[in-house]
Amino acid sequence: MKRTLISNIGSLITIAQKPDARGNVLKSMNELTIIHDAAMIFSDKFEWIGKASDLPKEIDIDDVIDANGRAIIPGFVDSHTHCVFAGDRSIEFARRLRGVSYQQIASEGGGILSTVSAVRKASIEELAEKGIDLAWKAIEYGTTTIEMKSGYGLSLESEISLLKAIEIVKSEVPIRIISTFMGAHDFPPEYAGNRSGYIDLIINEMLPAVKEMNVIDFCDVFTDTGYYTIEDSRRILQKAIELGFSCKVHADELSAFGAAEMAGELKAVSADHLLYCSEAGMDAMKLGGTIATLLPGTAYTLRLPYAPARTMIDRGLIVALATDCNPGSCYTPNMQTILSLACMNMGMSIEEALTAATLHGAYALKSEDDCGSIEIGKSADFNILDTTSYSDMVYHFGVNHIAKTWCKAVSIQ
Ligand code: NIG
Ligand code: FE
Repeated sequence: MKRTLISNIGSLITIAQKPDARGNVLKSMNELTIIHDAAMIFSDKFEWIGKASDLPKEIDIDDVIDANGRAIIPGFVDSHTHCVFAGDRSIEFARRLRGVSYQQIASEGGGILSTVSAVRKASIEELAEKGIDLAWKAIEYGTTTIEMKSGYGLSLESEISLLKAIEIVKSEVPIRIISTFMGAHDFPPEYAGNRSGYIDLIINEMLPAVKEMNVIDFCDVFTDTGYYTIEDSRRILQKAIELGFSCKVHADELSAFGAAEMAGELKAVSADHLLYCSEAGMDAMKLGGTIATLLPGTAYTLRLPYAPARTMIDRGLIVALATDCNPGSCYTPNMQTILSLACMNMGMSIEEALTAATLHGAYALKSEDDCGSIEIGKSADFNILDTTSYSDMVYHFGVNHIAKTWCKAVSIQ
């Protein structure tokens, strides 16, 4: 593989701040590792990073790229999305703006279930097309690793179709994609009066079939009022753990439900949303090494209170940021928008937000050995900004600041 030198980097924001152990970070998220007047060399992985004045003379270089004094950051890691779906919920969104609640729409058979009915009618190729389109939109804004969940099929066949569609997306777009099974996203209409029957189906048929596919890393459950109870969620996640999946939980998004406490107790890799997370939930997550993945785009879209990011960071939790890109509660794949929302509405500093959107996202996907920071030995995933200051991503908001993106050592835009 050819070896490339990026020269004339005004500031290289490496985010190289290793937590000492999962669940026991933190050199402060506020302290970014920045090298001014920097250069870096990579083939498929980063091989050398440092001050331009220290550049080793003896290394053979095939290609030189001038960063023109601009800033470089790691590729964003969007660790929570539902990018593979079908249908259109723009009318529902407009109704919500007129005051109808998310729960009210769901109780009328809309919401997640309206996407489920569109997904069941779509072909795998059509589902993949949606994922490919959203992945490219995410790339435009600097994402180089993205997680995608199933969860809009809610039958064995349809959930497998969504996961197969994600496999097609993996083969068609040049970024890293991690997939999650989320059969427990809602209850399908045919099991409306028999919720435990659907949970049995997840446990006895879906999880083993997904395991058989051998390409899915995570299992996620929507633990909240009106969705899966703590007891339901525990049954599903325990089976998932038995089969070797890592766990994630949609936790305390709509109510203080005790989901964060359960996530911590089960040592879930992440608990996500956490708008109504209790202090006991935070303590349990800290104890379990569970990452707090915050999705401020969802609080924004649903006009709900934002997650208590400040308290979480101050208590020493690992906070990650992600989009939650989905057709119902947050329809954006743009991680720069998420940085803005996190800083303006959750009291995070720009440095904390940038760390949460890169390295901590990688932790939430157990991919920290591969991506999330610019460090020797990691995959060459990075963005050259259109500015000399990384702060512009929040300060000069509403503007796409990505000039060039590299993923797995390939220039992709
Ligand atoms: O993460 N909370 C559950 N799932 C999605 C919303 C899905 C939808 O409305 O389609 C979320 O917010
Ligand atoms: Fe979600």
